[in-house]
Amino acid sequence: MQTLFDLTVVLFCVTGYVCDLSISPTRPVSVDALVGSDVTLTVSHSGASQPVVTWFMEGLPIIIWTISDDTSPDVASDHSSVLHVDRSGSLTFRNVSLSYNGTYTVEMTKIGEIRVSATFDLFVYDFIKNVSLHTDPLEAIEGAPVLTFYYSTMQGDAREVWWSFNGVRLDNGPHYSISGKNLTINQPSRNDTGRYAVVLTNPFSSGTHYRNITVLYGPDMPVLMVSPTKAVFVSGDSLFLSCVAEGLPPPSATWIFSNRSIPASSGGTVNLTDVTTSQSGVYTCVLINQKTGAQMKRNITVHVYEIPSGEPLCSVQATNENLGLQFLCVWPGGVPEARLSFPGLSVNDSGEGNFSITPNDTPNLNGEEIICIADHPLIQTQCRIIPRGPVDFLPVISTNISQDEQTTVVVHCNTEASPEAVVHWFKDGHGLEDGRKYQISTNTSQLFIRDFNVSSTDLDIYTCTAINPLGSKTSNVTLLGPKISDSSIVLSDNRTDVTLKWDVPPTSIITGFDIQMKGPDLTGSSRSVFRTIQMMPGFTRTTNISGLEPKSSYFFRIIPQAGGTTGEQSEEHRVQPDAGLGSAVIAGISAPFSIILLLIVLAFIYYGKCDRNPRYPISRAEEKVICQSSVNEPHHCPPPEYRLQPVPSLDSKPYQCGSFLLADFFLCFFLCSA
Ligand SMILES: *[C@@H]1O[C@H](CO)[C@@H](O)[C@H](O)[C@H]1NC(C)=O
Ligand SMILES: *[C@@H]1O[C@H](CO)[C@@H](O)[C@H](O)[C@H]1NC(C)=O
Ligand SMILES: *[C@@H]1O[C@H](CO)[C@@H](O)[C@H](O)[C@H]1NC(C)=O
Ligand SMILES: *[C@@H]1O[C@H](CO)[C@@H](O)[C@H](O)[C@H]1NC(C)=O
Ligand SMILES: *[C@@H]1O[C@H](CO)[C@@H](O)[C@H](O)[C@H]1NC(C)=O
Ligand SMILES: *[C@@H]1O[C@H](CO)[C@@H](O)[C@H](O)[C@H]1NC(C)=O
Repeated sequence: MQTLFDLTVVLFCVTGYVCDLSISPTRPVSVDALVGSDVTLTVSHSGASQPVVTWFMEGLPIIIWTISDDTSPDVASDHSSVLHVDRSGSLTFRNVSLSYNGTYTVEMTKIGEIRVSATFDLFVYDFIKNVSLHTDPLEAIEGAPVLTFYYSTMQGDAREVWWSFNGVRLDNGPHYSISGKNLTINQPSRNDTGRYAVVLTNPFSSGTHYRNITVLYGPDMPVLMVSPTKAVFVSGDSLFLSCVAEGLPPPSATWIFSNRSIPASSGGTVNLTDVTTSQSGVYTCVLINQKTGAQMKRNITVHVYEIPSGEPLCSVQATNENLGLQFLCVWPGGVPEARLSFPGLSVNDSGEGNFSITPNDTPNLNGEEIICIADHPLIQTQCRIIPRGPVDFLPVISTNISQDEQTTVVVHCNTEASPEAVVHWFKDGHGLEDGRKYQISTNTSQLFIRDFNVSSTDLDIYTCTAINPLGSKTSNVTLLGPKISDSSIVLSDNRTDVTLKWDVPPTSIITGFDIQMKGPDLTGSSRSVFRTIQMMPGFTRTTNISGLEPKSSYFFRIIPQAGGTTGEQSEEHRVQPDAGLGSAVIAGISAPFSIILLLIVLAFIYYGKCDRNPRYPISRAEEKVICQSSVNEPHHCPPPEYRLQPVPSLDSKPYQCGSFLLADFFLCFFLCSA
């Protein structure tokens, strides 16, 4: 076709038309060529024969030829094997190489004619081989500013490049920038994990490369948990802590408590068994992405509480010279400490563990129940106290004798009062001070009167005044000498024992009692005399006397003693022989019976062969007398028996007779049993 067109142009000119030099193509032409092939940049011209053809490569002349049969083209020496030009002016490349890529221009001129030119773009391509894809940085990490892919080929360039992600073609945009051989991902995230591909094409071949990219991330914000889910644990509870966070690779968790790491399972859990309050506090979970080194820390607070031991204790004490009151509420220990308050006294004040408050209007509180509220996160409890002024009281007297026979009288003025009352002591209207003669106990409720002498002014009126901020009470006590206020006697059914009972005035000073008895005796001298048979300490009010002869009469009396001073004796109590009348007869002194008794004793002396063992309790001295005064017959003196003497029986030979005559025996038996 081209040839036909050329021919037409030539014919026109030869037939006499005026022809101008022209060239075709008139627009730039692109030509693709495979490396090593032959390629021709084809031109044609008309209007003038034998023009001068010049080819330029990137502006530099590489071939000049005045088209004719007898000259050959002038080719730049280093291209002579590749470049060939023919009569049409077309340029042929033989075994073209990549270095011939470029823009070529052909110019034709003829003397007298204008210069014409045409332009070609020659693209020389190779087969695309071994495409590879790289990233920068090597590891894709979430949070990095960019992730850049770049491809390379071992051979062949691409005319077109496509990037795709999970099969979807990528375009330039805010997230992706594509330029040159690069694909840049701005602010890559875990969502950018996937399969990337680059597809390269040129007119002769194409190449694709895939790359799986994993974007590392995390640790994310962890989820911290305490199980069981409780706001507060109690000492002894068991619990476990867990710490879980997303990440790639999954992060490892460690726990820190008070600057020390505590062993955790691989899953990041920690078991705390039998916790104590020292394990209360902030636990920090540290998560590390072992690949990226990224760290995340988070705190969780575990509260381990403990109830204070025991119960809260309420008390009240006097302050300000016994004028003011201070209420105390104490409940120490525990974690946290209990909050203590007296809402009845002050709504706003409170304290921990040990709280006290001093109210202003003290007198109004007499008898009011004051409650302390003890508030601990695990328990609410309370204690109460009722402040009271001293109540009426009776002084109590006690008497002590020291080793050196000194008598100390103690006056006790104990009154119930809250706070405890302070006692002031007076004697005969004069205040008493703590000293040698008078000693006041630490809590002031006792007055010790030393070296008490019943015969002196120690016997007096003593006054004690118990005072606390809520009031006062006064009591007088008049100390009396040794006295028996009342006494009685009871004879046992078998008439061998008596029980003496007596009483003394409450303020009488007594250090002991002498129990005296008068009873039948074989000796004339002693039978009508009271003998001391027992000495009882001052606190006793009763005694037993045993071993009495049922057929005899006895007299008993009690002599109170105070130190060396003997007090007034009690009334005398008589035990009368049983005249077949039944039970014991107790009476005062009875003269007729005494006479009968005397006669019986005389009969004993007459029938002196009979030596009775004394059966009644007697003092050692008295006993001696009885034994010595008996007739010169062998006899046995009994061991001294002052109390609880067993009743002698016939088997134990209660008596011994000097003669073995039967008549004497019967007489003796009769008289001894009388
Ligand atoms: C290039 O790819 C071919 C096949 O695709 C392979 O045989 C050759 O080893 C690759 N060369 C390199 C350097 O990777
Ligand atoms: C890349 O990921 C695809 C699926 O996304 C999978 O089929 C393929 O095996 C992966 N290739 C490599 C080398 O891991
Ligand atoms: C923690 O205790 C749970 C059960 O209470 C148990 O399953 C787990 O194995 C324990 N973990 C450790 C690290 O002792
Ligand atoms: C965690 O607790 C520690 C120690 O109490 C403290 O220094 C740190 O600031 C806390 N961290 C956070 C994130 O609260
Ligand atoms: C004072 O102390 C004595 C013992 O020293 C005690 O017996 C008495 O009860 C106390 N008085 C008061 C009011 O507490
Ligand atoms: C007891 O007091 C009286 C009278 O004051 C005195 O005569 C007597 O000696 C005193 N007794 C003692 C043991 O001090």
